[in-house]
Amino acid sequence: MKIFKNKIQFRALKERIKDYDIKRIVIITGAGISAESGINTFRDNNGLWDNHSVYEVARPEAIELTPEIFFKFQNERAIDMKNKVPNKAHKKLSKLEEKYHVNIITQNIDNLHEKAGSNNIIHIHGTNSEYKCTHCTNKGIYQDNIYGEECLECNKGLLRPNVVLFKEQVYDLYPSLDMIEKADLFIQIGTSGTVYPVAGFPEYTKALKINISLKEPDNEHYFDFNFKGKATKLVSELIEILLKK
Ligand code: OAD
Repeated sequence: MKIFKNKIQFRALKERIKDYDIKRIVIITGAGISAESGINTFRDNNGLWDNHSVYEVARPEAIELTPEIFFKFQNERAIDMKNKVPNKAHKKLSKLEEKYHVNIITQNIDNLHEKAGSNNIIHIHGTNSEYKCTHCTNKGIYQDNIYGEECLECNKGLLRPNVVLFKEQVYDLYPSLDMIEKADLFIQIGTSGTVYPVAGFPEYTKALKINISLKEPDNEHYFDFNFKGKATKLVSELIEILLKK
């Protein structure tokens, strides 16, 4: 039934974009796009938030209250992600740049879009390929188990991942909104659409909106087309249509 519905929708999409001028594409990605590369999502069954306490591993207070648990989790995750490789969905997305102006705004802290060859990427929730100091402006490329070490620049802070913890400000919000406003096509892939501000981004554009995910996202109502299934398969089909247009 799901496959059947996707087929009908792809046909409708082809019709819809036949005479539709597409120059600028904004792509929002979430944990679902990296799931088939072996990186756990957050809110699916057995996801990260089923097995870890947000309070201990994802809040700024955890650095003081439960530092051992926080840094162990963050180091293990960064080492694990470093060794992952992009899947077909990441790779196909990078091909879109041959024909369109593409901006990717990812909530993911992995670097699989970079590894797949995409160029214009905003990590709105940061990236764990970088560390930063909790006290001074020292920042750098992650090396195994560096989180939790004392900062050698100021000797006051600790090195933590350059990611957005709960309650912290997202990165590059205004450049993101600017891109979204100018987009002709807005594609959201593999997110539950629950975490703001990203979940509200579709509101800031008049672009045609397409969603791809395994389950309906909470912000489903914004979208003109909703495809249900795995990113590797559906993203590939979508990109083929856009490249042939
Ligand atoms: P979630 O775990 O909330 O949602 C991932 C979504 O991906 C799910 O709703 C699934 O439907 C979908 N999915 C899973 N496997 C898929 C596949 N193979 N193909 C397509 N879709 C698939 O992850 P996010 O929405 O990315 O923030 O989470 C948003 C933010 O919440 C994260 O960036 C993180 C977290 O708290 C911070 O840490 C600041």
